[in-house]
Parts: sequence; C-alpha cells; structure tokens
Amino acid sequence: MSKLYETIKIEREGSIVWIILNRPHRLNAFNDTLLKELSEALDTVENDPSIRCVIITGEGDRAFSAGADVTAFPKITPVKAEEFSRGGQKVFSKIEEMSKPVIAAINGYALGGGLELALACDFRIASENAELGNPEIILGIIPGWGGTQRLARIVGLRNAKRLVMLGERLKADEALKIGLVDKVVPLEKLREEAKALAQRLAEGPPIAMKYAKHALNFGSQVPLNIGLRLEATLMALLFSTHDAKMGVEAFMSKRKPEFKGE
Ligand code: COA
Repeated sequence: MSKLYETIKIEREGSIVWIILNRPHRLNAFNDTLLKELSEALDTVENDPSIRCVIITGEGDRAFSAGADVTAFPKITPVKAEEFSRGGQKVFSKIEEMSKPVIAAINGYALGGGLELALACDFRIASENAELGNPEIILGIIPGWGGTQRLARIVGLRNAKRLVMLGERLKADEALKIGLVDKVVPLEKLREEAKALAQRLAEGPPIAMKYAKHALNFGSQVPLNIGLRLEATLMALLFSTHDAKMGVEAFMSKRKPEFKGE
C-alpha cells in the first residue's frame, strides 16, 4: 500500500488499514479522482491477505464526506449521469463484496454519496457531531450510489422515505435510534473506538468472517430457502479449514485461538 494518492490517505496499523478520504477543503466530497482512488485502494486491500479489517473515515473534524462534488453537476449529460451513477455503485459494491470487514468511522457530515459509502460498510460508528442524510431531493435528483436501495434495507422503508423524499438530515443520536449507525462516541474517541472494533474483527477467523459477511449480505437478497442453502454450503466449507479445527480445539482446551486464515 505504498502508492501515493492525491485524494485519499492510507494508514496501516498492524493488520488494520485506514482509508482516509482527503479533500477536507470540499468536506471530502467525491470528485472523479477520489472515486477512482478509493476503488484502487479497495482492490489493493482486498488482494492483501495480511490486511484483516478496513476502516474508512474522512480527513479533518467536519466531514466523513459531503457526497458527490456538486460543482460537476451543471455540465453533466443524462448519459454521463447514468455512467456516474453506475460507476459509484460499482465502487461501493466492492466494499459489500469485499472478503474483509469494513467499518465506517463517520467523523462529521455523511451526506449524499458520503452516507451511501457508509451504508455499504459492515459497521458504522459516528462521532457526536455527525449529521447523516440523503439530501439529493433538494437538488431535484435522487441518490444514485445505492442510497434508495441500501437505506431501506438498513433502516426500513418508512425511515428511508423520510430521508430520501424529505431530504432530512439526522443528528448522530437520531441516526442511532433508527439503527442507521451502530454507536455514537465523542469525536476525540472515534479513532480509538473504530480501532478497538477493527481489532476485534481482525482477530477473528478470516475465512469464516468472509463467509459470514457473504451469507448475510447475499442471503438477505434472495428467498429464504436459497439463503439457507447458501448458509449450509458456506458452513460446510469452513469444516475444511485449519482455523475451524484449531478454533474448536482452543475452545475445548480453554486457550485463546489464533486464527491464521487457512
Ligand atoms: N460538493 C462540492 N463542494 C462541496 C460539497 C459538495 N457536495 N459540500 C460542501 N462543499 C464545499 C462548499 O462548497 C464549501 O466550499 P467553499 O469554501 O469553496 O465555498 C466547502 O465545501 C465548505 O462547505 P460549506 O457549505 O461552506 O460548509 P457549511 O458548514 O456551511 O455546510 C454542508 C456544510 C455539508 C451542510 C453543506 O456544505 C452542504 O449542504 N453540502 C452539500 C451536501 C449535499 O447536498 N450532498 C449531496 C450531493 S449529491
């Protein structure tokens, strides 16, 4: 992960990697470069077996991300807008399909594409100053990077309609109440909390972690009987792993397991 990026920063802490959106002067709004660099960083992370957990956050203390860079909108044609929407969706889907857990550490505004990015992550921890919303309706458009789909799946249709059709911005504590974020902490504790969660996830068995994520993410998109088949197949595959053998042995001999991802 030694590549130098223009709009993101990468920080490594043991088996954890931080991807930091780095356009603070624009509240970390997404331009083409940021989307492209995030996509590249996600590929690099996915292909590095020594990385066991990813945390995405924003540079500074004001914003995770204020969404797509609106300054590009006036010149965009409908055909380009469709490509722009599909392009962003594909990048955020990489997070959902990634074999490792991904945490959004929401350090301020998570609006539009910023919230959509967080929605694709497995866990969301927000700072007390965070505000979350999909205000696109105010611009005369709708969310195009997964907001209309993932939001309803996470907080239900009723809450999703409030956010998408009214463009309401929720403070962190309200977001916690509807299950949009998992935890709210003071801004100065956000990094520590996200890291503690990442460490717990990173110590888990990597292959089981991958299959758990896939069974949950993809199982929830198919009929129950298909999802149950998927679950059984993935569960059975885990019986071929060294980690499962060692995990059971460690439990029986009251030792702490050390999972290797084999
Ligand atoms: N695209 C481009 N630039 C953005 C941006 C975005 N989505 N969000 C913020 N910025 C820029 C502002 O234009 C401003 O730049 P400037 O200093 O050159 O004028 C800078 O970031 C700081 O934002 P500002 O609006 O001055 O801060 P604020 O505290 O008054 O308001 C927000 C913060 C987040 C409420 C406000 O910036 C906002 O509503 N942003 C747009 C959010 C949005 O609609 N996102 C969805 C887009 S589809």
